[in-house]
Amino acid sequence: MIPAGLVLEEARESDVEALVALERRCHTHPWTLRHFADALADRRTMRVFALRRPHDESDAGRGLVAFAVVQVVAGEMHLHNLAVDLPSRRQGLGRWLLRETLAWGEAAGVEEAFLEVRQSNWAALALYREAGFEAASVRRGYYERPREDALVLRRRRPLRNP
Ligand SMILES: CC(C)(COP(=O)(O)OP(=O)(O)OC[C@H]1O[C@@H](n2cnc3c(N)ncnc32)[C@H](O)[C@@H]1OP(=O)(O)O)[C@@H](O)C(=O)NCCC(=O)NCCS
Repeated sequence: MIPAGLVLEEARESDVEALVALERRCHTHPWTLRHFADALADRRTMRVFALRRPHDESDAGRGLVAFAVVQVVAGEMHLHNLAVDLPSRRQGLGRWLLRETLAWGEAAGVEEAFLEVRQSNWAALALYREAGFEAASVRRGYYERPREDALVLRRRRPLRNP
């Protein structure tokens, strides 16, 4: 069930600046405006999901509470990005958004989902492990600022826990 007072929808081009602002609050080496613009433009393989509060047009943040960016190619889904804004954390929103994103992937015929995560990002690791993702490999020095290895995690279909 959708968290009370929030809506989940596909992000639009007009959301780019709000996405970048949330991203900058969440990551030490954040995606740029170009990353989000490219993701929004690639309607063939990518989706940007936005979880938001009702807002008015004067709200530069566009009510954004969380987002997820995924790409599906050849039956594989790559979760490129997932973030929940700081005041809204530890309320189950990351879990809910991850589950909805995986549900979308299942409906699109995805057989396997992959993601990379900093090895020190224990909050995200806890979230993904709880969701049934398992370690697949390590990408050495994958991240910058600070330089760090990425753990590649994988979940095979069914993509969600019962
Ligand atoms: C990782 C992130 C998305 C989690 O979002 P969230 O909405 O706070 O997570 P939830 O409230 O849904 O938590 C679900 C479960 O994940 C785990 N978890 C989440 N945050 C945690 C934390 N800070 N410490 C320990 N476990 C944590 C717990 O198992 C939690 O279940 P519980 O609250 O019942 O114990 C959020 O911390 C975030 O945006 N971080 C910055 C961006 C990021 O690192 N994204 C992932 C990139 S790969």
